[in-house]
Order: sequence, then structure tokens, then C-alpha cells
Amino acid sequence: MRALKLSTETWSSKQVFILAAVGSAVGLGNLWKFPYITGENGGGAFVLVYLGCVLLLGLPVLISEIAIGRAGQANPVQTMAVLAHKKGGSRFWSLLGVNGLLASALILSFYTVIAGWGLAYFVHSVQGVFQDISAQQASTHLDELLASPHELLFWHSVMTLLTVVIVARGIRKGLENALNFLVPGLFIVLLVLLGYATTTGGFERSWSFLFAADFSKLSWQSVLVAMGHAFFTLSIGLGTMMVYGSYFAKEHSIVKASVWIAGVDTLVALLAGLVIFSIVFANGLEPSAGPGLLFQTLPIAFGQMSGGWFFGTLFFALVVFAALTSAISLLEPSVSWLTQRFGIARVKAAWGLGAAIWLLGVGSVLSFNAWQEVHFLGERTFFESLDFVTTNIMLPMGGLFMVVFVAWVFEERDRVTEIDLPANLRRGFLWNLRWVVPVVILWVFASNLVTGTQVYWLMSGALLLYAAYITKVMR
Ligand code: TRP
Repeated sequence: MRALKLSTETWSSKQVFILAAVGSAVGLGNLWKFPYITGENGGGAFVLVYLGCVLLLGLPVLISEIAIGRAGQANPVQTMAVLAHKKGGSRFWSLLGVNGLLASALILSFYTVIAGWGLAYFVHSVQGVFQDISAQQASTHLDELLASPHELLFWHSVMTLLTVVIVARGIRKGLENALNFLVPGLFIVLLVLLGYATTTGGFERSWSFLFAADFSKLSWQSVLVAMGHAFFTLSIGLGTMMVYGSYFAKEHSIVKASVWIAGVDTLVALLAGLVIFSIVFANGLEPSAGPGLLFQTLPIAFGQMSGGWFFGTLFFALVVFAALTSAISLLEPSVSWLTQRFGIARVKAAWGLGAAIWLLGVGSVLSFNAWQEVHFLGERTFFESLDFVTTNIMLPMGGLFMVVFVAWVFEERDRVTEIDLPANLRRGFLWNLRWVVPVVILWVFASNLVTGTQVYWLMSGALLLYAAYITKVMR
């Protein structure tokens, strides 16, 4: 197979790569998902596990994924095929890319639905609907939106359309300008909200809810959710960062960029959590309200604080932008694959995929109303099933194999040049990739599949397989 360089566009500067990657990472995961899953999983201990997962698993996977992308210079499927071929690895490595493309389409299909709620709220905020709204009215407002398939469908369609239009236009024109004001803007509004949160009387409880860890509340299922979320929020495991990395100029540091991406992403999530739980506790709401949490709580804040109309409108505008920069990054890997592999024009690829993904999204729209009682995996609705399978299984699996790839198959020279660590950290990092990350991910999976001592049996089996694989690679 010839060495190929299919990704011909590059970001116009290092800062833009970081902005784009941050734009991908910071999204509904931070503002909407992190607070509600933290609420559902009991707070502090969950947050600690999530932070641990970001540092121990997320950062190494992020670094590995960007490195693979920059070394491979193409879409996820072909990158994996080419890099594996170069080292005489198996053809099956390209399945890692396929897993990613599939997961990105599935995620995008519900992502635009939730982003659509944000857009609806933006419009409502402009109209002044949230002025002086009570806690009760805020939750009724959400219930009414969710009960209407037509309205949800409309907003879902608008979000899908926006995503497709931007991706169809290509990397530079679509993205860069929006990001330059989005990320700073988001920080400013979050800080204003934080200021408001300290006046609500719920701030201290919010702080201890997030940071006081009570491990008795933690189940293996929560650990799986925390791990899955670490992958989701950093946009890793499915090839987004691989594709973005393939546009990242060679002279810049992947490690530094990754630390920035993970740091900013985590900070935004924690700030959003602090704000939302302050409002929850001050208004006697439930931390475990589920996916609606963000949309029930913030209108109360905007209804009460001075300048609420302005900040509310701005906040929901930013939610939409944050979601959009992430949605784009969910569509880009598949589009780059269609254009590079089959020579399909970018515009056609974006619209075709957009249509298919939109259709799938209808299932998620209905799962909040007409299909509310239709269950797929266990007790989960269509939306919850998609979210569970992608976030908690496909992403960590993807991350696991990326790390194994970089640790065992990647060319030594590539690894050293792409992952620009100081010499004294190199060995520790490689050791972490080889032994810690895979074992921890497998352990969390195993603990969810079976209970009690069976975990040890399953784990031993998995480790034996891993050892067999490694001996084969090393030979
Ligand atoms: N990280 C984004 C968020 O937190 C979502 C996202 C964008 C994503 N691209 C991704 C998740 C790739 C997984 C993989 O909202």
C-alpha cells in the first residue's frame, strides 16, 4: 500500500488547532451532560472518579489519538489501515476507524436533538419567556417542549442543517471565526453565572455536593458512566481528534495542546456543575432530575438575576455555538472518509450523511414523548440506549484499541517524534499506555458485565488474551 497524504488542508495556526479541538471537546457534554449524570450518580465520588479518568485514561488516549492522526494524515479508517500496514500489523485495525465512524453518526443523531433544546431556549429567552419565571414554571416549560414532537423535530432539523452547512464548506471558512469568540465568551458568561450562584444560598451545598466524596454511593455502573463520560467530553475514542490531528502542522507540540484541551474542558464542566447545583439546591429541585436538569435550572437564574434577559440570551446562544462546534467535529470524520476513500464531493458527502443522521434523530425526538415507554436496552429509551452504547461502550473500546495501537504497533520513531515528551517521562508514559490504561478500561468493563469473584475470572481471561496478543506483536 502506498503511503498516502489525504488530508491536504491544515489549520492556519497552532492556536486554531487548539481552539478547534477545544471547540470539539467543550459542548453539551460539559454544560448539559456532566451536571445531570453527576446528579444521577450522587455527586462527589462520581466527580472524583471522572477527574481520575480524565487524567489517567483521557489524557493518554487524547495524546495517542492526535498522534495517530498526524502520523497517518488521513481519515480514521484509512489512517489505521496505512499505519498498521507500515508495521506489518493486521488489516483489522481499520475496524477501529469503522467503529469510530459508526459511533460518531449515532452520537450526532441525538446530539442535534439536545442542541435543538438549546436553540429553542435561546429563542424563548430572546422573547422574554424566562422573565421572573418560578422553579415550577421552569420545569413545566421544559415538559411542554418535550411533549411536542413537532417542536423538537423542528429544532433538531435546524441544528442538523447548520452542522451540515458548515461542514460542507470545509475546515477553514466554517470554523475558525466562530471559535475565536465562542470559547472566551463562554468563560465570561460562566463566571457571571458563578457570581450569581454565590448569591443564591445554594452555593455551599453545591460545592460539597460536587467535591465531598462519599464512595459508599458509588457502583461499578457509575464508574463505567464516569469513564464513558471522560471519553465523551474529551471527544476521544472515535476519530474526531484523529482527523483534527491530521490537519495539525508537524512543528507543534501534541502533548502541550492535549494538556490545554483537557484542562479547559474540565474547567468548563466544573464551573457549569457549580452553577447548576447552586440553583438546584436554592430552589428545592432534584439533583437527579435527568437530562432536563440544565434546562430546568438556568431559566430560574435568568428570571431572577439582574440583567437576566441579556445573560440568558447570551448563555443559550453560547450553548448552541458550543454544541455546534462539537456537532461539526462529529460529522467531519465520516465526511473526510467519504471524500478521501470514494472521491465523493465534500458537499454531497455532508448532505447525504446529514440526511441519514437526521432520520435516526427522529427516534430520539420521539423517545421524549410518543416512545417514552418503548424500551430497548433494559429500561432505556431509544435515546438512552444510543447514548449508553456509544458513550459507555464504543468510545472506551475505541480508546482502548488506540492506546494499544500506539503502545505496541506504532513505529518507535513516530511515537517519539509525535509524542514530544521529555526523555525522562517517555518510559513512564509508554508503560502507562501498555499496562495501566488497557487494564483499567478492561477492568471497568469486566466489573459491569459480571459481579463478585467472576470479575477476576473474566479479567484473567482478558489479560491472557492481551498477553497472547503482545507476544505475537513482539515476535
Ligand atoms: N465532546 C463533545 C461534548 O462534550 C461531544 C463530541 C464531539 C464528541 N466530538 C466527539 C464525543 C467525538 C465523542 C467523540 O459535547
